[in-house]
Amino acid sequence: MASPHVLVTGGAGFIGSHTCVALAEAGYVPVILDNLCNSDARVRERLQRITGSTPRLIEGDVRDRALLDRVLGSEAFSAVIHFAGVKAVGDSVADPLGYYDNNVHGSLVLASAMRQAGVRTLIFSSSATVYGEPDHSPIPESAPCRPANPYGRSKRMVEEALADLQQSEPGWRIALLRYFNPVGAHESGLIGEHPQGKPNNLMPFVCQVAVGLREKLVIHGDDYPTPDGTGVRDYVHVMDLAEGHVAALRHAERQPGLATLNLGTGRGASVLEVVRAFERACGRPLPCEVGPRRPGDVPAYWGDPSLAQATLGWRARRGLDQMCADSWRWQQGNPNGYAP
Ligand code: NAD
Ligand code: UFG
Repeated sequence: MASPHVLVTGGAGFIGSHTCVALAEAGYVPVILDNLCNSDARVRERLQRITGSTPRLIEGDVRDRALLDRVLGSEAFSAVIHFAGVKAVGDSVADPLGYYDNNVHGSLVLASAMRQAGVRTLIFSSSATVYGEPDHSPIPESAPCRPANPYGRSKRMVEEALADLQQSEPGWRIALLRYFNPVGAHESGLIGEHPQGKPNNLMPFVCQVAVGLREKLVIHGDDYPTPDGTGVRDYVHVMDLAEGHVAALRHAERQPGLATLNLGTGRGASVLEVVRAFERACGRPLPCEVGPRRPGDVPAYWGDPSLAQATLGWRARRGLDQMCADSWRWQQGNPNGYAP
């Protein structure tokens, strides 16, 4: 039987590119649709070196309905994994309409094009940010959703729209995957995360300090009610996440319905724990300074991944030391990302 083709929107990006590896390893043929607004087409050569085949890249926007009709009508896709979107919380506050347009409108255009083409299996990149500030951790999927910014609301709106769609047309097979904090890189060091400009997130910032691109890490507050006073998050290795998508796809193939699942480790790590683990990985002390709290930050949260384990048979296998070692390998080998 021919290998099933999976359309991966945003597949040139950080999580999407790692998922292309996991898909290829699981016997699927990933086809990337990406407008490259936050990624680099040269990722394909790296994917070729890891998997032995170069994924096709369709350069275009998920909001382009005519393009989607052409793509979905031209070959038989068994499923779509929808990563394409924008993800910076601060930018979403500054430009809510742009965020709703890309993340919400883009997802609606994609779902309607899929419906027309008869492709009804969809894995959607949601985020733990839909929970907002939780009452307690670990957070189960049944916790109330109180997203605190336009980015989080854009993810929640898409979740609700897709749940309504599945309710009205029960033949759909949809997984809403709520990622906690994706970090790390493929163990080959060939693909990884390369944020444009000054990184917002902890791990890319730490990487850039370690490689000498930035002078020091500013720890955003050490007076939180956590064991060492710094913020606590559920960091999950991007390859575990990638494998979670394959597991979600297999589950969707087995049965129609809607699954809403946390993808995290179930364990929290503080900023200082991440810094110490990274120092072990890179073998040098990292200059740090404590600064004020970052506005809008939640002190601590981590996910309850037990439903994903029960439903998908998936759990995160890679720990913080491996996340740091793999991030460091990627950063050291590719200080300019995919650019030479
Ligand atoms: P990324 O920016 O590396 O990847 C997103 C990709 O989508 C990029 O390649 C970008 O060029 C592409 N893209 C954006 N808008 C597009 C459009 N309209 N049409 C076509 N392509 C478009 O980000 P990532 O970290 O890989 O995140 C992937 C998804 O996971 C996003 O939807 C994000 O919101 C979600 N997510 C990410 C995190 C995280 O911390 N990285 C956490 C939770 C959820
Ligand atoms: N932090 C620092 N210094 C930095 C960067 C971060 O101390 O330079 C701290 C933060 O205060 C926080 C922790 O490191 O305590 C993690 O911060 P990140 O920015 O890496 O991650 P967040 O949990 O704040 O946010 C991320 C994504 C959001 C997403 C959310 C939930 O950036 O888009 O996870 O999935 F919504």
